[in-house]
Amino acid sequence: MYNTGKVIVGIIVFIIFFTIPFWLNLGKVKALPKPELPKDETKCVEDTDYMRAYHMQLLHEWRTRKIRKMQVYYMNHEGKLYIMSLQRTCMKCHTSKEKFCDRCHQVVVTHPDCWRCHIAPEEVKK
Ligand code: HEC
Ligand code: HEC
Ligand code: HEC
Repeated sequence: MYNTGKVIVGIIVFIIFFTIPFWLNLGKVKALPKPELPKDETKCVEDTDYMRAYHMQLLHEWRTRKIRKMQVYYMNHEGKLYIMSLQRTCMKCHTSKEKFCDRCHQVVVTHPDCWRCHIAPEEVKK
């Protein structure tokens, strides 16, 4: 097989070419901003992985249950009760919309319009 060398070179060029996006992204993944988390020993309503993936569904569920069914409390998987309120529960611990909610949403480019009506906590200016 006289052209094995060429085939191998071809394969190597192919691999390098198609993995360029991967190499270029290596640095960026680390550069994703981290949301500022509460500094005390509190825990979120549900565990962190669940919150990261499903907080929108949870908020939606809270809104529906509060407004349509007039329920007040949410019981989490450990049996702990929380008042279902964006302002009075979530934002009591996550005291900055800019440093928490916005920091992720800017990266994934989503702009939930909740704050047209709900009042975000006052930002502490440094
Ligand atoms: C009692 C305080 C408290 C309340 C109430 C609370 N959180 Fe949290 N939340 C935390 C803490 C502490 C963490 C970080 C947990 C960890 O890293 O182990 C967290 C983590 C999260 C995360 C994941 C952040 C990441 O790093 O990926 C999201 C999203 C989140 N919370 C949204 C919410 C929303 C939405 C609500 C209201 C439905 C809420 N939280 C209510 C304390 C709270
Ligand atoms: C750890 C990162 C992270 C944090 C912190 C975070 N979010 Fe999100 N949020 C996301 C992601 C990812 C999505 C999904 C975007 C998509 O579907 O395109 C999202 C979507 C949402 C949506 C649905 C948007 C829509 O248009 O349907 C709402 C509502 C929301 N987040 C509320 C909040 C609130 C309120 C906070 C602060 C208390 C918060 N999020 C904090 C990552 C985060
Ligand atoms: C057009 C105005 C408006 C917008 C936009 C809006 N809300 Fe609301 N929301 C309300 C009103 C009014 C109530 C009822 C307040 C009450 O029952 O105390 C409410 C109640 C809620 C509740 C339950 C009660 C509480 O204190 O939080 C949740 C949770 C909630 N909204 C989440 C959201 C989320 C998440 C978004 C963004 C995706 C959003 N809302 C956008 C007007 C709005």
